[in-house]
Amino acid sequence: MSSNIILIGKDLVKEYYRGKKEVITALNHVDIEIESGRMYLLFGPSGSGKTTLLNVLSGLDKPDSGKVIYQDENIVDWDEEKLALFRRENVGFIFQDWQLIPTLTALENVEAPLYPTKLKSKEIRQRALSLLKQVGIYDRADHYPAELSGGEQQRVAIARALVSKPKVIFADEPTGNLDPESGNTVMRMLKNATRLGTAIIVATHNPELKKYADKEFKISNGRLS
Ligand SMILES: Nc1ncnc2c1ncn2[C@@H]1O[C@H](COP(=O)(O)OP(=O)(O)OP(=O)(O)O)[C@@H](O)[C@H]1O
Ligand SMILES: [Mg+2]
Repeated sequence: MSSNIILIGKDLVKEYYRGKKEVITALNHVDIEIESGRMYLLFGPSGSGKTTLLNVLSGLDKPDSGKVIYQDENIVDWDEEKLALFRRENVGFIFQDWQLIPTLTALENVEAPLYPTKLKSKEIRQRALSLLKQVGIYDRADHYPAELSGGEQQRVAIARALVSKPKVIFADEPTGNLDPESGNTVMRMLKNATRLGTAIIVATHNPELKKYADKEFKISNGRLS
């Protein structure tokens, strides 16, 4: 096994029931290996299982069976408290619907993943402001999510995922609400993070993003290829 492998999904199965009889197989025996410092793109039509796979690999959701192995530990059996700590220290997530905290400003949303912390609050502020600058919304730092456009909220979510310098970033349609130029800025920022060793997994419909990929996966009806 290559020592660069940071995350392994093994034989992952996830099913949902619609009513009593109809079973939807969102993940159908998925095997996947993720290496540090690489950018992966996950393509697949709507409903194919992309979000489900990101949620399961990040420990936000549990598979019905299979393993999720980070650095030789299967996180599937961990309790919520241990998982939350693990996510805080290792994982950044850019959600399809952003999930910013409505009562915090853009700047505070970006800072939030770092608290509680041993870092100085001044240092955190500088780091968060620098990220807001990079995503091009420095002048919106004190706006609340409701005062931001969809694309601006998405860029706050991207800054928030980067702030803790996580080992893995999961990004669910990170460019979905952005014009092509902003989309490219975001992808370049994520690509930069891979140079620091972060692995990035991007679920998307957008074939334009292929140029950023080190490797592409396709998922269809819960099956990965
Ligand atoms: N909580 C749930 N309850 C029931 N079915 C669900 C649930 N979440 C997802 N599904 C079903 O599982 C399948 C995979 O959903 P998923 O959200 O992973 O798709 P996706 O590839 O992310 O789609 P999209 O591109 O539209 O975001 C779909 O058929 C969906 O309807
Ligand atoms: Mg989805």
